[in-house]
Amino acid sequence: FSYPLPANEPVLNYAPGSKERENLKAALALLKSTPIDVPMYIGSAEVRTSKKEKLRPPHEHKVVLGTFSIGEKKHVQQAIDAALAAKQYWEGMTWESRAAIFLKAADLISTKYRARMNAATMLGQSKNAYQAEIDSACELIDFLRFNVHFLSEIYKQQPISGAGMHNRLEYRPLEGFVLAITPFNFTAIGGNLPTSAALCGNVVVWKPAHTQIYAAQLFMRILKEAGLPDGVINLIYVDGPVVGDVCFNHRDFAGIHFTGSTGVFNHMWETIGKNISKYRTYPRIVGETGGKDFVMVHKSADADEVATALLRGAFEYQGQKCSAASRAYIPSNLWKDIRKKLVDGINSFKMGSVEDFSNFINAVIDEKSFDKISSYIEKAKKDPKASVVVGGTCDKREGYFIQPTVIEAKDPRFITMREEIFGPVLTVYVYPAGQFEKTLELVDHTSPYALTGSIFSRDRAAIETATRRLSNAAGNFYINDKPTGAVVGQQPFGGARASGTNDKAGSILNLYRWLSVRTIKETY
Ligand code: NAD
Ligand code: ALA
Repeated sequence: FSYPLPANEPVLNYAPGSKERENLKAALALLKSTPIDVPMYIGSAEVRTSKKEKLRPPHEHKVVLGTFSIGEKKHVQQAIDAALAAKQYWEGMTWESRAAIFLKAADLISTKYRARMNAATMLGQSKNAYQAEIDSACELIDFLRFNVHFLSEIYKQQPISGAGMHNRLEYRPLEGFVLAITPFNFTAIGGNLPTSAALCGNVVVWKPAHTQIYAAQLFMRILKEAGLPDGVINLIYVDGPVVGDVCFNHRDFAGIHFTGSTGVFNHMWETIGKNISKYRTYPRIVGETGGKDFVMVHKSADADEVATALLRGAFEYQGQKCSAASRAYIPSNLWKDIRKKLVDGINSFKMGSVEDFSNFINAVIDEKSFDKISSYIEKAKKDPKASVVVGGTCDKREGYFIQPTVIEAKDPRFITMREEIFGPVLTVYVYPAGQFEKTLELVDHTSPYALTGSIFSRDRAAIETATRRLSNAAGNFYINDKPTGAVVGQQPFGGARASGTNDKAGSILNLYRWLSVRTIKETY
């Protein structure tokens, strides 16, 4: 069974009066008017506990979308048991049957549940319609379909045989269970981490960020409707450290598929390291982590292109993309022009609820993020080494709203040039004429991360120099484009250094990590 390279799911534009906009509005109204009590999905059971938390849109504190049950240690153990109980059946299924389930889930999202998935992402994670569409519809569908194609390519790879012997590779799943821990910011990543491992025949315990649960549970229900057998993926809402405590002490822990912050990943890796002799097999450790993504501008660049890339790259989804432009290096000859375009652009942005489709900016995810982001803005306001060029207003009365903010740093190593803020804050360092190469060194050495980055230039030699000198500074490097918006099958995604293990989500490379190969030689 060979599954050809699929086409990317087309992006719908939700133009005023379009059918898709009307469907989406109806889905938003339906979800808001029907609060749900979300269960955990463990084996065949829907598990609710007496400890509940409310699900609220980040942009509208007064609305309650529903509740979810907080699980505890015993639920993690139950999820592992359910996964291990499903393992033999799932592994024994033909891979074509496994693939059919995920392909059906992709079709269900594309046709039947698109509006509802997008509405859940909009309300639960405060994404506008376009940001939801490229995430919970297109990227998620693409992950599901492309992974089937990639795995079919892997299965085709077989060694040579000779006279009197036949060699073959058996692509087995890992021995044990895989833990998927997912962040709040992409519903598609939440969907991809458990399903890519499961497609390869693994059984999974999936723990999403609490702020992703509203969309995650809907995706889980779609997987069930597509025919996913009980226990293959078990969705639990338990605090991260508790999940880690149980899973990382378990003999059958076979791997972690993680996306989230660098600090959390480091902590998990250390725990796994300390427990290494407890496991039956060396666990696979795959983590996509933080970023401090750069835009480097050469004096030959087009100011319009740079300003548009910064406005989109830094502020779409309130800067809460791991790939978001967060530090920019602008040559002095272009700064006045670009500065004006940034100020005009930001002043033209509308900010508010996701239900008003003209709002480009919505809320940041929660109070903890709001406080963290505002504290960085306050530092810039108070420090003589920096100044706020535009924005800087933060208001959490009705929702967690932070105005897109541009900081100009006199010191290229100012704190907001170095640390991941994960919000709508862009820091610019204006470098003097003649210092292009010296500034490339700064780009490379100012932050520990290496996720995404861009070079803007119309001078080929400058592009070559930047591409070479920044070879380890970004796992995804863009020439004359913003550093966000990687598309599955087009730009495999992931970074190195403190940004992760660079196992490239949305590519064949990632799937290899969820397979353990047996080589078989048979002589006649
Ligand atoms: P986070 O690290 O706070 O949380 C990620 C997940 O880890 C959540 O499910 C959380 O509950 C869980 N967690 C937290 N502490 C834990 C612990 N001690 N043990 C086990 N699990 C624990 O990240 P977030 O705020 O949800 O997402 C933002 C971060 O994710 C940013 O740093 C961003 O750069 C990163 N991110 C990276 C990529 C990438 O591809 N590199 C993509 C998206 C997000
Ligand atoms: N696909 C997302 C981006 O590149 C992570 O912005």
